[in-house]
Amino acid sequence: MNDELQKKVAEAIRDPQNIGEMPDADSVGTVGNSECGEMLRMWVKYKEQDGEKVIDKASFQSFGCETAIAVASLATELIRGKTADEALEMKPEELSGELGPLPPMKIHCAELVQGALRSALSPEDQVLGQAEEPAPQPGSALSPTLQDSLNEGQAQSGGGLKINFLDEEE
Ligand code: FES
Repeated sequence: MNDELQKKVAEAIRDPQNIGEMPDADSVGTVGNSECGEMLRMWVKYKEQDGEKVIDKASFQSFGCETAIAVASLATELIRGKTADEALEMKPEELSGELGPLPPMKIHCAELVQGALRSALSPEDQVLGQAEEPAPQPGSALSPTLQDSLNEGQAQSGGGLKINFLDEEE
């Protein structure tokens, strides 16, 4: 990663926005990348605005790398006020906001955020309350129990929580 991007990422994660579980969310989406072992969960809450259903707020928790956390922080701000369709149209480079273009080895970090967002916004959204998996604890971004969490999530996916593995989708 070049110095400029490193600086922007460091800045974004110094005070990450919208981090943490959202208990009153309308939907939740979780994705994992089994290649790098990162995982990201995103919550979305809607509101009515001018007769349209738009995103009121979004939050996230991540077991991901710093870049994924930085992108999720920026993306959860950028999608506010957008309809689900508008947010779904956003490409990883748009979700990365002021970070600008990511180097090839980091593009999948933004795709992880895009995947979590798609999972949360997709029509077959899970309704909160159906998910039985305990939410990861804030600050556990580098938790050694990542694999446990992924395994639990997979085991319970029939019970309402969906974890998409990006690399398996393609
Ligand atoms: Fe895989 Fe960033 S290194 S999400």
